[in-house]
Amino acid sequence: MDLARELSEFLGVVEQRIGAALVDGDAGPEVKGDTLMEAARHLVMGGGGKRARPMLVRLFGDAVGVPTEQLVEAGVAAELIHSASLLHDDVVDGGMFRRGRPTVNARWGNIVAVMSGDLILSTTLLRLVQLDARLAESAMSVVAEMTRAAIAEVEARGVMDLPMPRLRYIAEGKTGSLFGWCGRAAALLANNPEAVKRFDGFGRHLGVAFQIADDIRDILGTDVGKPQYADLHSRTPSMPMLLALAKDEGLRRKLRDAWAFSSISPERAQELGAGIIATGAVDQSLEWMNTEIEAALEQLGPFSSGVGGQELAGWARKLSDGITAQVRSKVA
Ligand code: IPE
Ligand code: IPE
Ligand code: MG
Ligand code: MG
Repeated sequence: MDLARELSEFLGVVEQRIGAALVDGDAGPEVKGDTLMEAARHLVMGGGGKRARPMLVRLFGDAVGVPTEQLVEAGVAAELIHSASLLHDDVVDGGMFRRGRPTVNARWGNIVAVMSGDLILSTTLLRLVQLDARLAESAMSVVAEMTRAAIAEVEARGVMDLPMPRLRYIAEGKTGSLFGWCGRAAALLANNPEAVKRFDGFGRHLGVAFQIADDIRDILGTDVGKPQYADLHSRTPSMPMLLALAKDEGLRRKLRDAWAFSSISPERAQELGAGIIATGAVDQSLEWMNTEIEAALEQLGPFSSGVGGQELAGWARKLSDGITAQVRSKVA
């Protein structure tokens, strides 16, 4: 069977297992449904998620020869940890729309969103303890790192001179740490310490690149299922924003004025977005993203030419090509 077919079958099994993990709790015969799991299913099972993390788990697993069954559990865990972080992130960002539908906080409120995230996080970690204590322990440290990065991002709100290393720290914590875990999990299951290091390094750089791509799409409006200019509205510095602000004093003034009000009108957001693009900051962000992708490929080292590794390298290059094409078509 070819690798693409195997991958799609693997993702099918992951999907079933995710569904089984999000069943209602045992609330007794008279109580039907479990609000927290219902809310989780709305985000997780409603379609539109790219399932990038389970896919990475599979490819990393192929690169070190891990049996499918163990990988399925790691893939499910990666997707559910990600899902919990999205439930919380949309509360933090006041995000009202994700994957083409209202967010859990928009539909059920912040309390349900926060608790639903907590519930799937804790049940996922429990499942990992059953699978392998090393995976559970490393996942807990990733959750801690993601949490630290999330508050660092909140503290960075409205900061126009956020140093680039700080932005990178946030991106690595938010996204790179879990991408790295996808590799670490596979490598730990294969008892391959060299792969643990290399895959973690690859995933971290790739995650930063992925986050920069997300920042670029927010400005270009090429996100499917998410509203444009979410970062501008939530006053969250993104890479294109910071690079543009460093170059254009007029834009700084405009953005400072816009952020002084409690909300930004669609016209104002559009104007600021066009101002950011006009400085060349999006192209510059693309270069930063490509530097991260090159660093990721370097970390992969000898694995990049083997089974699974080739696909990982190919996926990283496709991320770069896809965003480059979007930038080319939107930025004259
Ligand atoms: C969204 O992650 C948050 C970021 C890390 C940028 P994804 O882009 O993987 O989101 P889904 O899972 O496909 O919705
Ligand atoms: C990603 O951050 C969220 C996590 C990795 C937890 P963003 O805030 O940029 O993600 P989106 O844009 O809302 O998907
Ligand atoms: Mg967000
Ligand atoms: Mg974003």
